[in-house]
Amino acid sequence: MEFKTENGDGIDSWREVTLVYNSALRQVETKLEILNDEFQHVHQYNPIEHIKARIKTPESIVKKLKRHGYESTIENMVKYVNDIAGIRVICSFTSDIYRIADMIGEQKDIKVMGVKDYITFPKASGYKSYHMIVSIPVYLSDRIVDTKVEIQIRTVAMDFWASLEHKIHYKFEGDAPEYIRNELVECAKMVSDLDARMLSLNEEILSIGRTQEEGA
Ligand code: GTP
Ligand code: MG
Repeated sequence: MEFKTENGDGIDSWREVTLVYNSALRQVETKLEILNDEFQHVHQYNPIEHIKARIKTPESIVKKLKRHGYESTIENMVKYVNDIAGIRVICSFTSDIYRIADMIGEQKDIKVMGVKDYITFPKASGYKSYHMIVSIPVYLSDRIVDTKVEIQIRTVAMDFWASLEHKIHYKFEGDAPEYIRNELVECAKMVSDLDARMLSLNEEILSIGRTQEEGA
């Protein structure tokens, strides 16, 4: 570990920072679970399939700081690394993604710092996902620390694609052969098609349900 702070208490600061990010992560995760439960209560339906939460390892924080030309200090990581605390929200349908994003945005204590909509604007690789960087206050005994959390929201199908693409990216160190990249782009199109068809199938089922209720 090569984290340095100006007063030299690197490890202590690192532990404290980790504690704060862990707390922020748990708060956001709990908020999402509550919203999901409430949604189930009101609409008899869960927009969230499951949630994965993780804290970035010190190694990848150092790597990211290096990549952006910053020295590995606690100050720099807090300032420049937005995804130290990361939450991935997996849902069934594309419509759920925007529903969840809106619900997060409406939380009074959460500040949305930035949004990247790779669903409307997918990456050239074919990557689709909705990203939010939010800030949430963590209440310690003597102060309040506004802490950043990265939230990635995607469908099960998008997550399946992203996991394989990530594995391939890692294996070829970012330089996968062209035929594999092309195949991934093709698969991404199939993912989008599948998501669209599953969504309209679900809407169809819901509308049949409503017609039956009206006729009852
Ligand atoms: P990073 O430095 O990688 O964090 O990217 P960024 O700060 O430019 O932000 P961006 O929103 O583009 O990406 C944030 C995160 O989204 C990444 O750390 C990945 O987890 C995920 N991601 C972005 N692009 C891709 C992609 O092409 N494939 C996969 N599998 N994941 C991606
Ligand atoms: Mg990242």
